[in-house]
Amino acid sequence: MERILVTGATGNVGFEVIRFLNRLQAPVRIVAGVRDVEKARQVFKNFAELEFVHLDFEQPDTFPQALAHIDRVFLLRPPHISNIEKYFRPFFAAMQQQHVTEVVFLSVQGAEKSKVIPHHKIEQSIKTFGFDYIFLRPGYFMQNLTTTLLHDIKQKQQIVLPAGKAKFNWIDVENISEASAMLLHKFARYKNKAYEITGYENENFYTVSRIIAETANVPVTYKNVNPLRFYRMKRREGMKRGKVLVMIMLHFLPRFQSAPHISDFYEQLTHKKPTTLKEFAAREKSRFMS
Ligand SMILES: NC(=O)c1ccc[n+]([C@@H]2O[C@H](COP(=O)([O-])OP(=O)(O)OC[C@H]3O[C@@H](n4cnc5c(N)ncnc54)[C@H](OP(=O)(O)O)[C@@H]3O)[C@@H](O)[C@H]2O)c1
Repeated sequence: MERILVTGATGNVGFEVIRFLNRLQAPVRIVAGVRDVEKARQVFKNFAELEFVHLDFEQPDTFPQALAHIDRVFLLRPPHISNIEKYFRPFFAAMQQQHVTEVVFLSVQGAEKSKVIPHHKIEQSIKTFGFDYIFLRPGYFMQNLTTTLLHDIKQKQQIVLPAGKAKFNWIDVENISEASAMLLHKFARYKNKAYEITGYENENFYTVSRIIAETANVPVTYKNVNPLRFYRMKRREGMKRGKVLVMIMLHFLPRFQSAPHISDFYEQLTHKKPTTLKEFAAREKSRFMS
């Protein structure tokens, strides 16, 4: 039976990828690559068939065991890891040694254009190693609203960002993960191409706050701040320097870029429409309440 290793398994995307893979009921073994196996067993306590293996991108000695008898990898770059040469090259070398040749990589929309972002470097490295690949390039996660931005929404009824009126493409992690599971399953049909996966809405944070306020009945508003003020504010709140800088880059730079491209790949693949912001706000309503 084929064996698929899912990295980032306990995170937003990885968890959902495993849930959707499980739902496909395909004849595959799913292996969760995790830093803490005992913790992961709790997270996945309802997934009886799931296997676990210790995998830490910062500990190369975990690679051979994690990749043994694996046919295909779902690869996710943990957000804090940006030194690709140091952490991902050895992982790819281990893949090669273990004869693992197929990888679905969760990249990001626009990765092909920006040479400095880690996803670009990972895509290039995967090609250089000669693996068969699928690059899935998503837009901006709706789940940023229920993770990184949730504290301000609940405590201050505000979304505070240096994003001005920049428009982001909003995509539900559930849609990304469902597509990932299908691509892992039908790898041969889709391999050696990159696919953008987006929702159908490009919206700015003024509109998104209004949608949350109206749909989830929470009086949230958007407060635009300049990058320096944002930096000071988040540092005072205890956010790590690196994370604040990444947030500034992610939210400030789009002010100078055109609106993201909209792709219908999710609909082509699943014959379903991607989640709308209104549907997302209704589904996650209870999480926005203070
Ligand atoms: N947010 C967006 O709008 C957006 C848009 C496009 C692309 N992306 C990309 O999506 C990815 C983030 O996905 P996500 O939201 O699912 O991430 P996440 O929820 O932060 O999860 C990160 C996962 O990586 C694991 N991890 C952390 N450090 C690790 C290490 N050293 N070795 C092995 N595993 C490790 C974590 O496991 P533990 O449980 O052990 O911590 C967790 O399972 C990033 O590459 C990001 O650039 C994000």
